[in-house]
Amino acid sequence: MHFSVMAGEAIEHLAVRPDGVYLDATTGLGGHTALIAQKLVTGIVIANDRDLESLEKARRNTAEWAARIRFHHGRFGSLPEAVREAGFAKVDGLLADLGVSRYQLTDPERGFSFLSDGPLDMRMDQTTGMTAADLVNHTAEKALADLIYQWGEERRARKVARAIVRARPIRSTLHLANVVERAVPRTGKLHPATKTFMALRMAVNEEPAELDRLLAIGADLLTPSGRLVVISFMSIDDRKVKERFRELGREGRAIVLTKHPIQPGEEEIRRNPAARSAKLRALETVVS
Ligand SMILES: C[S@@+](CC[C@H](N)C(=O)[O-])C[C@H]1O[C@@H](n2cnc3c(N)ncnc32)[C@H](O)[C@@H]1O
Repeated sequence: MHFSVMAGEAIEHLAVRPDGVYLDATTGLGGHTALIAQKLVTGIVIANDRDLESLEKARRNTAEWAARIRFHHGRFGSLPEAVREAGFAKVDGLLADLGVSRYQLTDPERGFSFLSDGPLDMRMDQTTGMTAADLVNHTAEKALADLIYQWGEERRARKVARAIVRARPIRSTLHLANVVERAVPRTGKLHPATKTFMALRMAVNEEPAELDRLLAIGADLLTPSGRLVVISFMSIDDRKVKERFRELGREGRAIVLTKHPIQPGEEEIRRNPAARSAKLRALETVVS
């Protein structure tokens, strides 16, 4: 079963009009895209993702509304091209639901999970770029430790990096999880490899830089009175969204619609525990 996080809140804040043009920057399995498409009469939703396999699934899941959807494969940096290719200059609303989908996380073949064995890949876009195996097998120990410390917030990063370097070459997800577990035994509830896997995923996909890019160009893609809605799952991402939204507010380019971030209700968290850390922020661009 696929649940789109804060679906009702996201659609409400996008203020979807039947004749509007919308950009779902992270279509994933197409959940939010379908909800937007259902509200359109003459409008269009551009469904973007950097993951081709997800796009294929989104296409199948949204087939009923195909006439209202244009798909695009690319990173956040290519969103202006996605809009142009669909035949528009601007959009009335842009939605970004950050991170990875449950499907990406749990499919062993994608290499994100330390719970089942698979290739150490972790690329959202498998058509290009460095894999997690490239990273763990070829990065210098100090750089690896810094990365795991900074992005995984793993206090024992030096120990982890040393163990990884000693165990090279590391070829699979379970191999890596075992190496980490031996280096830093479990202390709390979290699996000892959680933070290391998170840091590698962020590095492989350049997630911090991608969010910066999205926040840099997002408002420029919108028509006056356009809506930008961002759902993030990590506090470091939410902080960036908050700060950028405030800046756009100060510059007089937008009105921030969410003084505090919107979070999922108890019922949603019960149905979908993965939603519990989600935070939604929205703004409306100012008519100039
Ligand atoms: C949380 S999922 C989205 C789920 C989707 N909203 C739904 O309802 O099914 C995030 C998606 O964003 C994609 N993604 C993450 N970062 C991206 C980026 N920088 N550029 C394009 N797509 C990205 C991932 O591949 C993933 O499919």
